[in-house]
Amino acid sequence: MSKQIHFGLIGAGRIGRVHAETLTFRLPEAKILAVTDIDSEAAQALAAHCGIPTVTDSADEILANPAIDAVLICSPTGTHAELIVKAAEAGKHIFCEKPIAFDLGKIDAALAAVEAAGVQLQIGFNRRFDANFVRVRHAVESGEIGKPSLMHIVSRDPAPPPISYIRSSGGLFLDMTIHDFDMARFLMGDEVEEIYTSAGVMVDPEIGKAGDLDTALILMRFRNGVIATIDNSRKAVYGYDQRVEILGSAGKIEIGNCYPNQAIVSNGSTVHRDLPLNFFMERYTESFALELKSFTQAVLEGKPTLVTGIDGRIPVVMALAARKSYDENRPVRLEEVNA
Ligand SMILES: NC(=O)c1ccc[n+]([C@@H]2O[C@H](COP(=O)([O-])OP(=O)(O)OC[C@H]3O[C@@H](n4cnc5c(N)ncnc54)[C@H](O)[C@@H]3O)[C@@H](O)[C@H]2O)c1
Repeated sequence: MSKQIHFGLIGAGRIGRVHAETLTFRLPEAKILAVTDIDSEAAQALAAHCGIPTVTDSADEILANPAIDAVLICSPTGTHAELIVKAAEAGKHIFCEKPIAFDLGKIDAALAAVEAAGVQLQIGFNRRFDANFVRVRHAVESGEIGKPSLMHIVSRDPAPPPISYIRSSGGLFLDMTIHDFDMARFLMGDEVEEIYTSAGVMVDPEIGKAGDLDTALILMRFRNGVIATIDNSRKAVYGYDQRVEILGSAGKIEIGNCYPNQAIVSNGSTVHRDLPLNFFMERYTESFALELKSFTQAVLEGKPTLVTGIDGRIPVVMALAARKSYDENRPVRLEEVNA
């Protein structure tokens, strides 16, 4: 294999564009050879923006191209599992956006295909590559704050996505909380065994009509005894709210929001600052670049990726448990949904 990894991109929407820009403008060890999208105009526009030489009519054409080493799956979640199976069978390494699928049977089939083909798979849990979260993980792992007892994750979006996206997203827990479930496991270095969810529709009744929720507080107990909460809302009017606090026997660690500047304005009536970075494209820019750098490096060096298929599966189990807890209004042990 050459020293440059050749990519095919499937899906030229919001996240496809973020990843295409990283590979094109920030990673000399990567090159996108082809892009496809069922919306050919979206694919054409992204190809023009990033200088991608080929736009194909289907993912199959990308998978049949022997010059392509790896694929980026950035199409809607409902397409991921089947594309993983096809890509693995075609011998391509795979970077797939979260979540792998909405149900465990499809995830297991996809992971089995990856295992059988011996290709590399990384799931798009980009927050693991964010400098703030990495620092929190280090504090827990090194014992810097002693033995952890409580963890609070606040994760609120500035505004809900369009209803059309909500309908195909799998719902709040599988689409949005999935990142926080991954963070909970990553930061604690342990597994959750029980989840209790209180949730509702408080942002937009249309979200409720689409069968989804927009506000949730999730209470989790880890195997090691740590008690944790995830606080989610689809709408925080002041912007993207991403904070974590962990209390341990020797202290605590917390991370606050990221701001476009450090300026504090004081006048006769108030002291204030500008709003936090508005959404994931701005707040997590560096982590998106670092996750692809890490994936490309893993492929180049033939090493395991840092976010594996199992790391993609377990947060889906957590999301299914969270929904079951809400539906049945009781704590749910993960083994109840982990068939
Ligand atoms: N890691 C993150 O922070 C993050 C952020 C946003 C989205 N995502 C995930 O990325 C995926 C896409 O989300 P998005 O926000 O970019 O959605 P989007 O709707 O903006 O883009 C999806 C694109 O895929 C195209 N598409 C649909 N079916 C296709 C198919 N069969 N083959 C090829 N292209 C197809 C659509 O036309 C669209 O252009 C979802 O799974 C989502 O959960 C992850």
